[in-house]
Amino acid sequence: MTIHDSDNESSQPAPGPLNGIRVLDVSTVYAAPITAMLLGDYGADVLKIEHPRGDPARTHGHSKDGHGLWWKVIARNKRAATLNLSHPAGREILEQLAADAEYRKLFETAYGEISSAAITRALASFERTLVSSNSHYDQFLRGELTLDPQEELGRKLFMAHPDVKVSLRGANCIDCHSQFLTGGSSARYDGFSNNGLDDDAHLQPGLQTVTGKPAHRGLFKVPSLRNIALTGPYMHDGRFNTLEQVLDHYDSGIKNSSTLSAVIVQADNQAALELIGGLPLSERSRDPS
Ligand code: HEC
Repeated sequence: MTIHDSDNESSQPAPGPLNGIRVLDVSTVYAAPITAMLLGDYGADVLKIEHPRGDPARTHGHSKDGHGLWWKVIARNKRAATLNLSHPAGREILEQLAADAEYRKLFETAYGEISSAAITRALASFERTLVSSNSHYDQFLRGELTLDPQEELGRKLFMAHPDVKVSLRGANCIDCHSQFLTGGSSARYDGFSNNGLDDDAHLQPGLQTVTGKPAHRGLFKVPSLRNIALTGPYMHDGRFNTLEQVLDHYDSGIKNSSTLSAVIVQADNQAALELIGGLPLSERSRDPS
């Protein structure tokens, strides 16, 4: 094994919140090396392990004066060591390094034994730090702007029930997609619904996989609609690529089944038409923009 400074001039970790934490980077192109780079940016001591013939990123993409520019970026702040993992001695050294890496201990302190379930929890904790709070709708809620007529029509449609008294074509969306997080009683699994994607013959197990109850067949977690324009494809199996297709589903694609939500049935075009005598969803206020 040889240890040498990476080609980058600033191989010393900058002081930062992760100062003193040792990270072992045994990855190649590109997501994980970038993650390790970010940890290094925050001050972690990143040890990059590469094959003796050189990491492929060293020569990837454009180069200047014989040095790959990608490598310059993703190897910054890292120390590099070559290890031949095809050789038992190389593997043994890697195991020693891994046993010693600080983040293993930190992970165990935070989450207990390292397992796929614990890693899922760690990823979820990370995702919860990505907070979005300044959307057009947030600004409206804070009273910083007013909605144009089209947006206001969409808001009403989303928020309201079909109402015979005021002849309002509500679509009941808010009954399930309440605010930004799923609401209701967790004991009753209120945050799960069958929103009419499939008929009985094609209904996926959904929540039944976890609870074993036939009444939970075809029920899926009601997702947050925050940043929804950016997070396609949609539904548990990604069957819809666009929001237009999602609206087509709620407008005219609802499939009947034994566990279909009553809220969906109530907002169905036929039911709403009979109730309020109004126009179906497709003929007004469907612009998803
Ligand atoms: C009965 C409850 C219910 C109602 C009413 C409802 N939804 Fe949903 N919605 C769901 C569930 C459950 C899912 C997730 C289904 C899945 O994962 O397969 C979902 C998924 C979605 C998605 C895709 C989210 C994603 O990230 O994949 C969008 C967009 C959406 N709904 C919009 C709406 C709109 C707009 C309305 C009103 C017209 C509405 N929903 C009414 C329960 C409901």
